[in-house]
Amino acid sequence: MERVSRSALFCSVLVALFWTSYAQNCNSSTFANNKQYSACSDLSVLSSSIHWTYDPSTNTVDLAFRKTGTSSTQWVAWALNPSGRRMAGSQCLVAHQNSTGTHAYTSPIAATGAPQLQQGRLSFEVPSINATFSGSVMTIYATLQLTNDLLSTNQVWQEGPMNGNSPGMHPMATANTASTGLIDFRTGETTATGGSDFNARLRRRNTHGVLNAVSWGILMPIGAMMARYLKVFKSANPAWFYIHVTCQCSAYVIGVAGWVTGIKLGNDNPITISEIHRNVGITLFALGTLQVFALLLRPKPDHKYRFYWNIYHHLTGYTVIGLSIYNVLEGLRILDPVDDWWWAYVGTLIGLGSLSALLEAVTWIVVIKRKKESREKLPHSMNGVNGHGHGAL
Ligand SMILES: *[C@@H]1O[C@H](CO)[C@@H](O)[C@H](O)[C@H]1NC(C)=O
Ligand SMILES: *[C@@H]1O[C@H](CO)[C@@H](O)[C@H](O)[C@H]1NC(C)=O
Ligand SMILES: *[C@@H]1O[C@H](CO)[C@@H](O)[C@H](O)[C@H]1NC(C)=O
Repeated sequence: MERVSRSALFCSVLVALFWTSYAQNCNSSTFANNKQYSACSDLSVLSSSIHWTYDPSTNTVDLAFRKTGTSSTQWVAWALNPSGRRMAGSQCLVAHQNSTGTHAYTSPIAATGAPQLQQGRLSFEVPSINATFSGSVMTIYATLQLTNDLLSTNQVWQEGPMNGNSPGMHPMATANTASTGLIDFRTGETTATGGSDFNARLRRRNTHGVLNAVSWGILMPIGAMMARYLKVFKSANPAWFYIHVTCQCSAYVIGVAGWVTGIKLGNDNPITISEIHRNVGITLFALGTLQVFALLLRPKPDHKYRFYWNIYHHLTGYTVIGLSIYNVLEGLRILDPVDDWWWAYVGTLIGLGSLSALLEAVTWIVVIKRKKESREKLPHSMNGVNGHGHGAL
């Protein structure tokens, strides 16, 4: 029983950890002079966020672009680009440090030619711009005079090294080439009618990702490990069975909730989803449900069909785990969150994989030892061979 409660505790700590890190969002940022913004959005890469207050009566937006984890030898930039989700044509707000302090200015990038990020006027008015650098956080504050075509448009953001006193070329890492998205300034309006869809959808996509990564992608493999590696210890019988069932059932319940959010997302916007992600998701739901029924319909341990049931249960189980990991990785690719998320998941997989390798070795040692012992006992008792160890493998 102690093992059951310990594993339940472990599972809930894991879920809690995911939720707390998920809850760390742009809402918790604070600004100079305790400035408040009515809307914010965490940007998908380069640990950045954008905060703004839109005033429909003047069509101006007061905004702050916040980039964490930067340094005094880096420049940062945020831009609107009505011509596309790319660098060419971007209307940039740039900030950097040099020997005379922190500087912020506007810089338009031409449609052709190498960008220099030189100071210049944008295609719209920027009545005020300044920046602060503190700790490792660069924040650009600006007021933009919007035109109607800029209310909902593309945004681009970037970070690169300073070459002495002027900005140098940004790196071409994945994050630096994926730093584009959409922004709808009307979202922050309290009386907004149509603009809030974008953020709501982003939130639902994140919820879908977290629910499914935790359930299918982490809890289910842990549940399988519990069954495989605890079973070999006689003292863990039948505790392993209850731990396994608890883990898989909670994973299934959370997983179905995540699956439903996914189906809803797909129905709301059938164009952007990946066909393979959706099909693998549906297959997983079917196989997962089958496993739950298989649990209810399993033959008694000494039943003649139990052997076939075991083969079926293991095959389906391992298929589910393989497909789950594949689909979480595919989902991360679609969602394209900050790299930390990818590493958090892949790191967890590497951790579980290493632990499995270790426990696999322990299991084999125990089973081989047990076989040897029972062979030595053979002359005294023909029933000495203990099928238990074989059952574990
Ligand atoms: C952030 O704050 C806004 C306004 O208070 C709220 O509507 C929104 O739900 C919050 N977002 C999150 C993810 O907590
Ligand atoms: C910096 O810019 C913001 C946004 O336009 C403005 O509200 C603020 O007053 C400016 N701060 C200073 C010190 O100029
Ligand atoms: C520091 O940067 C600002 C803005 O880019 C620039 O105007 C200024 O000349 C730079 N200072 C030096 C010492 O180069």
